[in-house]
Amino acid sequence: MTNMASNNPPFLAACHRQKTPHTPVWLMRQAGRYMEEYRTLRAQHDFLELCKRPELAAEITVTPVERLGVDAAILFADILLILEPMGVGLEYSKGDGPMIHRPVRSGKDVDALKDFEVKRELSFVYDAVKRIRKTLKASVPLIGFAGAPFTLASYLIEGGGSRNYVRTKTLFYKAPEAWKRLMKRLAQVIAEYLNCQIAAGAQAVQLFDSWAGCLAPADYEHFVLPYTKAVIDAITPGVPVINFSTGTTGLLKHIRASGGDVIGLDWRVNLDEGWATVGHDVAVQGNLDPVTLFASPKEIRRHVADVLRRAGGRPGHIFNLGHGVLPETPVDHVIAMVDAVHELSAR
Ligand code: CP3
Repeated sequence: MTNMASNNPPFLAACHRQKTPHTPVWLMRQAGRYMEEYRTLRAQHDFLELCKRPELAAEITVTPVERLGVDAAILFADILLILEPMGVGLEYSKGDGPMIHRPVRSGKDVDALKDFEVKRELSFVYDAVKRIRKTLKASVPLIGFAGAPFTLASYLIEGGGSRNYVRTKTLFYKAPEAWKRLMKRLAQVIAEYLNCQIAAGAQAVQLFDSWAGCLAPADYEHFVLPYTKAVIDAITPGVPVINFSTGTTGLLKHIRASGGDVIGLDWRVNLDEGWATVGHDVAVQGNLDPVTLFASPKEIRRHVADVLRRAGGRPGHIFNLGHGVLPETPVDHVIAMVDAVHELSAR
């Protein structure tokens, strides 16, 4: 679809591979610790409280949009919030990152996960969406998000981050039926959660499969792809889905097969090669290395120019990092990157 742009904001037009006056840009983790405004709020409230108080979540979402001049906002929340009502004991501990106190290790554990009403138990998220939509300029679309089934399953099973995903992979090798039940359940909950965000006002959604890069292609295809696809197939028609993952250069064809209007590419692949692999009949998002933002603004501009050159002016490119903004990143370098994207891609 490459007809002239409608009145769609550039981000939404690019999701549909329509022409845009400039390449739209936003950043994963654009709301976070690298911003003084966030650190100030965070000093007064714990992380879960920020997520659960819609007025605070809304403020954190909107601030970087105004400060950076990006083309989209992303809801302030976290992929793990959806695990809390399952009764597994979610905690954001200082220093160690998020933890699950009662991890899932067996079929019995899978069956003991609590059923919950997605619409009711996570209503604070939809309230934040409504509030953000009221505050944001109409020209700035709001992106909702959720973790993908595999990344959420790996948190549930490992109990936190992991190096080798031994427990997660062991479950699918040794107890494939339990794995299937878990992934089906997650896919259902995730789809409903995203559709509730959409009903509240989110205009696009991103599925984060941050840890899919640990998988062999055949395992992705067999144990993960059907469930990611089930989520994407269940999303409210017409709302663009961004299928994001990292470390998945060798999985890109399978990722593409799992669906989405936009495929996330990280910096481990050249954007032109990644786009050719997933096919030019889908949009792509990416793919600057987040560490580039620690270089000088002149060097950042050179890297931005290279990514844009590889996109070749083809409709359907959304500029982003290949993963989230890192905590120590200088804010003025982020602004320099956003400005460079807008200037160098102006058509
Ligand atoms: O992008 C945004 O600005 C929106 C908000 C957002 C957060 N987390 C806020 C957050 C989004 C989209 C996420 C997604 C998320 N959360 C992912 C997928 C993306 C990725 O980074 O791979 C994952 C794996 C998580 C799980 C998670 N949440 C981890 C591992 C951590 C701790 C380490 C870290 O990266 O910060 C969190 C906490 C978290 N989520 C913070 C923020 C701003 C930091 C909390 C703090 O202030 O201490």
